[in-house]
Amino acid sequence: MEELAVQVGEATLALRRAFSMFPTGVVAMCGMDGATPVGMAVNSFSSVSLDPPLVSVCVARQSGTWPRLNRLPRIGLSVLGVNQERLSRQLSSRHGDRFEGVEFEATSDGALFVKGAALWLDCAISDRLEGGDHEIILLEVRETSLFPHIPPLVFHQSQYLALSNAS
Ligand SMILES: Cc1cc2nc3c(=O)[nH]c(=O)nc-3n(C[C@H](O)[C@H](O)[C@H](O)COP(=O)(O)O)c2cc1C
Repeated sequence: MEELAVQVGEATLALRRAFSMFPTGVVAMCGMDGATPVGMAVNSFSSVSLDPPLVSVCVARQSGTWPRLNRLPRIGLSVLGVNQERLSRQLSSRHGDRFEGVEFEATSDGALFVKGAALWLDCAISDRLEGGDHEIILLEVRETSLFPHIPPLVFHQSQYLALSNAS
């Protein structure tokens, strides 16, 4: 076992690397702030409960986008498709318009979904829990739209990958 370095910065890097060994999908978490689309890429998405239908995401406390999504009645989660690596980078970028050239659908309640995704979940915030330097957001799923013909984008060791069959 590798012991976590004593230096805080190094320990954080070591943890980042360790957590990156767990493969995830990438989710676009988006909404309409008035007439302005807002959103961010997250890979901390997890399914939580069937009854009630709950999922979770973890949001960094310093996120500038989350406070804008946090006040919306609905938030759209789009599980990105294998061809949406560029969109993932765009939705995490600190500069420029995150929605430039992005095709999306918005609902009257403020949820925003990106086209070309593998799954859309229309969600309402159910709870916010303490999670260290992140906040754990529990979201109640109100509606689902599945696009089974679109394979998901995979994120592993800071790289974007596609699924393949296990041998
Ligand atoms: C693949 C990927 C996964 C990410 N996952 C998360 C996440 O789970 N939680 C989070 O707070 N930020 C995550 N981010 C970072 C956000 O997308 C975004 O860069 C960050 O919130 C800073 O932007 P903001 O200040 O507009 O929120 C991720 C970025 C990438 C590229």
